[in-house]
Amino acid sequence: MPTVSLSLGERSYQVHVSNGALDSVGFMAEKLRMKGKAAIITDSNVSALYAERVIQSLRESEFEYSLHVFEAGEQSKNLQTLETLANEMVAEGHDRSSFVVALGGGVVGDLAGFLASVYYRGIPFIQVPTTVMAQVDSSVGGKTAVDIAAGKNLLGAFHQPKLVVVDPTTLLTLPPRVLSEGMAEMVKHAILRKPRMLQQLSRLADELQLGFTLTTIEHLPEIIAENIEIKARIVEEDEKETRGVRAFLNLGHTLGHGIEASVPLGELLHGEVVSLGLRGALHLSKKYSGLKERDEEEILKLLRALNLPLSLPVGVDIDKALSHTAADKKFSGGNIRFVLLSDLGSPLISEDITRNDLREAMELLTTPY
Ligand code: NAD
Ligand code: GLY
Repeated sequence: MPTVSLSLGERSYQVHVSNGALDSVGFMAEKLRMKGKAAIITDSNVSALYAERVIQSLRESEFEYSLHVFEAGEQSKNLQTLETLANEMVAEGHDRSSFVVALGGGVVGDLAGFLASVYYRGIPFIQVPTTVMAQVDSSVGGKTAVDIAAGKNLLGAFHQPKLVVVDPTTLLTLPPRVLSEGMAEMVKHAILRKPRMLQQLSRLADELQLGFTLTTIEHLPEIIAENIEIKARIVEEDEKETRGVRAFLNLGHTLGHGIEASVPLGELLHGEVVSLGLRGALHLSKKYSGLKERDEEEILKLLRALNLPLSLPVGVDIDKALSHTAADKKFSGGNIRFVLLSDLGSPLISEDITRNDLREAMELLTTPY
């Protein structure tokens, strides 16, 4: 099975990607000599679809377990759910010898990962991501967080998982919109480090139009593992985002976060705002850092083929979105740290992007593509 290794000293771990891997979670945890009782944390949609298989695999490896389910959706990624889950875990007898299994999309992974980072001052956890977004992005790299009233992901911790188990067949049950949104992060990874993957993603977009089947899903483990590899290398170079390398992963996110924060929580999916943000970032890259128009076109066509939005939905207030962009954590010391591209595969961080530039890019998003 394709395996991606993250070499992070004592925090090193592996990401296993294979169709059917859900049934091996227990076996892989056992091989890692994980001990204690497992707290499976999942959401109301994923629980009904996949919890039983993970439970069965933990049982086969003789792990004790408890199951904890919260209401699906970004609205649950908060301190209230965290406390409810922690109280449930205590009631189930979990202590510092337990471990968490985060089964679900990015919301589950971020929330359960953060809980693992603070429960009894930190216990191990395994990521079992079930959306494209979580498989190629959020389950890898150790960023965990919850949202607070002041903003998304503002309380969090770096807490690397002990293991990531990716089963691409879980993507067969994703609603089309959720399937598409995760592809935005795959495109972002390809743009940053492996432009030749863009053609592969374009073929995947064609298959997506026809609907994924078990046959098309056969090549997915390789494609997903190759895409994860891009993020894994970036995380290895800059685990805590202090060296200016991991910050490249914010391509498309500065404008995207502003848009996301200006609409009710969960109204636009994370990957959808990344797609919008990418259009703005490509425009500014063409203007300031020499990105070729034909490269911009190739990416915009791909995003469109993946059914991702390139224009703001009616009703988005661009002044509000811009004010949230200005409050974004990527503004350091008053300067905007904006990720541009000088070429496909060549990102750079610019501190020269002005508020007027951001407005120009945001206004572009009000026009159709
Ligand atoms: P999500 O977890 O809300 O999942 C989207 C929807 O799909 C939910 O309704 C979920 O119940 C459902 N679902 C999940 N797997 C399914 C399956 N296999 N079949 C059917 N339905 C399924 O959202 P997401 O897009 O996976 O993740 C978004 C979150 O990830 C955001 O909170 C974002 O901030 C976070 N994120 C974190 C990082 C990071 O590095 N930690 C990176 C990117 C995004
Ligand atoms: N999703 C961005 C990061 O992990 O750094």
